[in-house]
Amino acid sequence: MPGIGLIGFGRVGRGLLRALHQRGQAQDLRLIAEINPCGRDPEDLTANLAYLLAADSVAGPFPASVSARGSSLILDGREIPLVFGRRPSDIDWRAQGVRILVEASGDAASVADAASLAESAVDKVVITRSEARAQATLIRGVNLDEYDPKAHHVISCSTCTANAAAPVLMALDRAFGVERASMLTVHPALSGDTLLDGPAPDFTAGRSALSMRPVPSEVARTTGQALPHLEGKLVSMSLRVPTMIVNALYADICLARPPASDREIIGVLEAEASHRLAGVLALERGILGHSRPAADFAGNPHSSVIDLNWLALTGALLRVLIWHDNEYAYCQRVADTLEVIQRHLT
Ligand SMILES: NC(=O)c1ccc[n+]([C@@H]2O[C@H](COP(=O)([O-])OP(=O)(O)OC[C@H]3O[C@@H](n4cnc5c(N)ncnc54)[C@H](OP(=O)(O)O)[C@@H]3O)[C@@H](O)[C@H]2O)c1
Repeated sequence: MPGIGLIGFGRVGRGLLRALHQRGQAQDLRLIAEINPCGRDPEDLTANLAYLLAADSVAGPFPASVSARGSSLILDGREIPLVFGRRPSDIDWRAQGVRILVEASGDAASVADAASLAESAVDKVVITRSEARAQATLIRGVNLDEYDPKAHHVISCSTCTANAAAPVLMALDRAFGVERASMLTVHPALSGDTLLDGPAPDFTAGRSALSMRPVPSEVARTTGQALPHLEGKLVSMSLRVPTMIVNALYADICLARPPASDREIIGVLEAEASHRLAGVLALERGILGHSRPAADFAGNPHSSVIDLNWLALTGALLRVLIWHDNEYAYCQRVADTLEVIQRHLT
């Protein structure tokens, strides 16, 4: 399969390597580029990254042997080289067999530089966030089948929350019309969060991660990128909470053609979950008649898991609670996107 290069070996970068390994595709990953802001000894930093891959506080042990040798990770005896502190355009990706470059650092300069390499230094660039330079923002279940290998060279996988919201809104919009939606994401901690107060581009986000903090959410805008006819009809905000994993997305959705009862809505969602949105949407009924907490959704591969216990219809207003593992499920979607791109490149 065409080789993959990775920029950024943080939560998403390491999660993606786990997803590739799970699919028997870890050998496709040919080179990893990481920043080294503190100028650490590259061998020491490589050993540190191997340690973080081998044992993860959220994902558990890596299901293969992991070690470090020089500036390479050794995964089940196979070498994955790392380079440190280099701009994407200063790296010879093709020499390592890389045809698809995944930008998973989220650093604006790195994203811009990586995007400029599509169709030249590499064939395709995949960005793990919402990105204006992308020729396509692809969400599995919504528009991944619209991937056009001739026209799409810089591809965004959008955000984890848009991957959760868009399939549900698309299904509801097709059946009942979505007039407006207000979404609140209750988001676990991200790497940039700190235990004590510090400066941050969003001032409130820089306050202690032990405190629940209201922060801006991109989910309304990024869902609108994948479902353009809903642009301008969605609003969102986020509460960052001191948990390690799993996002709860609460939505109040105003339907244009509300059905008589929520049973009809559940019927539509069941049909979507077993056909068009199979593997993307799941419906959850809880255990022994009781809802599950966030912890039960860690490691769930679906982009959106609707807890039917909390689904409620009042007139035209529908309340929905959607769970998703912001790391695991998202990395599965990035791996799904890579599979589609790889298939067209071979
Ligand atoms: N975490 C999620 O739930 C999630 C879900 C979906 C999408 N995303 C998106 O995925 C991207 C990465 O998020 P993340 O949570 O994985 O962040 P992260 O854990 O901070 O990982 C980013 C990694 O990239 C490294 N890095 C920073 N600048 C770099 C550069 N210029 N070149 C190479 N490496 C660089 C960082 O190193 P240092 O630590 O040394 O800075 C870190 O190891 C972001 O765009 C984010 O919005 C995240």
